[in-house]
Amino acid sequence: MTKQIKSRERVTERGEVFTAEREVNAMLDLVKPECIRPDSRFLEPACGDGNFLSAILERKLAELRRRYKSAHRSYEIHAVEAIGSLYGVDIMRDNVEACRQRLFNIWDREYTSLCKDDCSNDTRDAVRFIIGRNIICGNALTLMCVDEAGNDTSEPIVFSEWALIGTTQMQRSDYTLSDLLLYRDNTNPDGNLFARDDDEEDTEGVFLKRYTTHYKKVHQNG
Ligand SMILES: C[S@@+](CC[C@H](N)C(=O)[O-])C[C@H]1O[C@@H](n2cnc3c(N)ncnc32)[C@H](O)[C@@H]1O
Repeated sequence: MTKQIKSRERVTERGEVFTAEREVNAMLDLVKPECIRPDSRFLEPACGDGNFLSAILERKLAELRRRYKSAHRSYEIHAVEAIGSLYGVDIMRDNVEACRQRLFNIWDREYTSLCKDDCSNDTRDAVRFIIGRNIICGNALTLMCVDEAGNDTSEPIVFSEWALIGTTQMQRSDYTLSDLLLYRDNTNPDGNLFARDDDEEDTEGVFLKRYTTHYKKVHQNG
């Protein structure tokens, strides 16, 4: 069993008490179907070292293994989609680093064991890049990035939406977290982070950056 507390100071200063695996799984069981869809998005605003995100990733990858055991290309692209669906914020830099590494290790272990000789280092680099953009060192209350000491900087938290287009292309669109939360509150209270009403026009102008490229090359435009 992993430790739930690192130090008394961290509990006092940051309320850092990690959730035990049993409780994580019991909570995820409440939204079981969402946890196995590669494109269903989750944001953990105080993610610690990723107890929830890593359990969701394991569930998503297990489902993909079941579906695409002998179709390595399909597995690969949907596994990239799955990692792109997970978002986290934590104010402690060491937690953010640990969370990123943990997600990458889970992703790569599964990828390597399933795709074997079909694995590509370009895909691994793309996944590292996506994790680096999705797991952010920031203050979930002010929605700003933080410095080493945990103080707010002048940079807002910006998340990238990763959307699969066809069988090889991925579109990245960047939004500030504050815009995403505003948008969701105003137009889509029950929707997920980037959800849009199909009848609405795309919110051109809200995103900060957008490009479409091969999913193995997302990091080359970043
Ligand atoms: C109770 S722990 C939960 C960690 C993880 N979600 C889990 O369930 O194992 C709270 C986490 O929130 C982080 N935290 C505290 N204040 C924060 C803030 N204003 N913004 C983002 N993260 C914060 C702490 O560093 C800590 O990792």
